[in-house]
Amino acid sequence: MAQYVIRGGTPLVGEVEIGGAKNAALGILAASIMTDETVTIDNVPDVRDTSVLLEAMEGIGVQMHRIDRHTVKINGSNVRNVNIEYELIKKIRASYYLVGALLGKYREAEVPLPGGCNIGSRPIDQHIKGFRALGAEVEVEHGVIHARAKKLVGAHIYMDVVTVGATINIMMAAVMAEGKTTIENAAKEPHVVDVANFLNSMGAQIRGAGTDVIRIRGVSRLHSAEYSIIPDQIEAGTFMFASAATRGDVMIKNVIPKHLESITSKLIEMNCEVDEFDDAVRVVAARGLRATQIKTLPYPGFPTDMQPQAGVTLALSEGTSTITESIFENRFKYVDEVVRMGANIKVEGNTAIITGGGKYSGANITAPDLRAGAALCIAGLAAEGVTVVDDIHYIERGYEDFDSKLRAMGAQIEKTESEREVRKFKLRSKIVS
Ligand code: EPZ
Repeated sequence: MAQYVIRGGTPLVGEVEIGGAKNAALGILAASIMTDETVTIDNVPDVRDTSVLLEAMEGIGVQMHRIDRHTVKINGSNVRNVNIEYELIKKIRASYYLVGALLGKYREAEVPLPGGCNIGSRPIDQHIKGFRALGAEVEVEHGVIHARAKKLVGAHIYMDVVTVGATINIMMAAVMAEGKTTIENAAKEPHVVDVANFLNSMGAQIRGAGTDVIRIRGVSRLHSAEYSIIPDQIEAGTFMFASAATRGDVMIKNVIPKHLESITSKLIEMNCEVDEFDDAVRVVAARGLRATQIKTLPYPGFPTDMQPQAGVTLALSEGTSTITESIFENRFKYVDEVVRMGANIKVEGNTAIITGGGKYSGANITAPDLRAGAALCIAGLAAEGVTVVDDIHYIERGYEDFDSKLRAMGAQIEKTESEREVRKFKLRSKIVS
């Protein structure tokens, strides 16, 4: 299996260009089949999750034409069946967006239950609650979600929890339902807004996305559109914390600073200098890092997808920090790995107590999931010596060209496929450092 091998200790200096938002792209790609006309989508991140979803869509007859690495033309007019391939779909959680899209357009969908990162139980009861409220019959049998409706009628739906996936899925199912739908206690993440904006560019009537009340007026059909996906808030945040952890000076380009406000404010509390520009932020960590307290919350709170990256950085900061993970129940799996590198972190329930001021020494570690994997790479970049990160396929699900973007900022990191390549890297990087 491929690995990243990293010789740490070099501050990241330079700039990095942020790609399209994975979690917006997955909803938008699924929604693109809701018209029989051709849709062109730009700024699609070239990561495993989007590739797997596109492959699954092709499997049900969706026509694709890749214009370039980040631009795809999609036509859903001759979808032959609504039964998605299990082999493909078990790899990504966002498969469930095809339920909302197919149900919304064809009044029928058969999609395997989602797979994805093991960061928690990941129920879909709120998705099912929304589809049923719109008039669909939904059963889960043998690991497959079966949904069908004679017709879909607008409804007033109150979400029991703030959920990104269910908010997006119900929005898709409702855009061509008869009458008005209101989603209360809706998720407000930037990627929810991006999917709503995309659907509106196809002729949907969605108002209030980005607030906790989304109102939808059903339309009879959707039409072609050209759309560019927003920059990835979490990819940007990951590089912001990488700059902090390595005492670097990094300009993160092609971002929407407003989407990064909770991350920026925590880094400032941690004694970093963060400058905001129109479409860039600069993170300078010349001074020693300080401890802080973090609680993950739905947007605009501190994102759960940034929790591991913050945790490994706080282990280097002077003082004792706490992180409370309020969204998922199993998102501290990186702690065991980073403790082996020298971190002093104790997890009690959904809170991590981080005694800072430590140093990392390189070790052989394993990525337990997507964001924890990225966080472990940050620890490796800050460590003395060489770190080998295994199971990097998790990281490649959500980060495009992760190693080459870091190398461009001075990091000594390479993707290796064998022990021999690791040995060669160790020799070569020793000479350079
Ligand atoms: C999306 O997952 C993201 N994935 C996750 O990013 C992100 O961590 C999460 O939103 C929160 O921001 C994609 O967009 C593909 P939720 P999702 O539904 O939609 C509970 C990454 O790193 N819940 O907002 O699955 C759930 O258990 C990934 O890119 C229900 O109880 O998350 C959780 O506690 C990891 N019932 C909370 O809501 C439901 O029906 C938030 O989950 C649905 C969710």
